[in-house]
Amino acid sequence: MRIVVGITGASGTILGQRLVEELAKLKHEVHLIVSHGAEEVAKYEESVPFEKTKKLAKRVYDDCDMAAPVSSSSYKIDAMVVCPCSMKTLSAIANGYAENLISRAAENCLKMNWKLVVVPRDTPLSLPTIENMRKLKEAGAIILPPNLAFYNKPKTIDDTINFVVGKVLDCLDIKHNLYKKWGEQ
Ligand SMILES: Cc1cc2nc3c(=O)[nH]c(=O)nc-3n(C[C@H](O)[C@H](O)[C@H](O)COP(=O)(O)O)c2cc1C
Repeated sequence: MRIVVGITGASGTILGQRLVEELAKLKHEVHLIVSHGAEEVAKYEESVPFEKTKKLAKRVYDDCDMAAPVSSSSYKIDAMVVCPCSMKTLSAIANGYAENLISRAAENCLKMNWKLVVVPRDTPLSLPTIENMRKLKEAGAIILPPNLAFYNKPKTIDDTINFVVGKVLDCLDIKHNLYKKWGEQ
């Protein structure tokens, strides 16, 4: 599958990085956009160097590059995931404010009915954010907050990261072994 991954400046850039690792391992064609906010946030968190993540992608674009192939809906993709998604980018996508490549590529998904999975991270949530999530859901996106779960008995932070990334892969109908599904324990 040809999958666009947008990593934005919400806490947990490692989630998007692990997603890219898994997609690359499973031989999917990753087109990666890392926002400037994501690069900033990663400085404060335990994460993998972005250089390493970028090497796993087939193509890497600057978030300001509005002439990139994925800026146009004539460039067919199978799906896009914004992981993690900041409240700013969530708002941009929900309101059609395509001022950078991530929000523009996401807008193309909504225009073309291509699968769009958004992983919004913030807590607590403001009313405008809740409204933006509702709008995006109505527009056809899948909203997948990186919520904790305990039924899979996580022992490490890695288990928690894998659970979220596994949930994203479930939405893309991609088989994985990142967590044991209910009924398969
Ligand atoms: C350390 C750090 C953590 C942040 N965590 C979040 C977060 O969890 N959620 C969020 O919406 N914004 C968070 N922000 C703010 C965003 O990075 C900021 O709004 C940025 O403009 C988002 O831009 P982008 O969506 O283009 O990456 C954080 C900023 C910093 C410096």
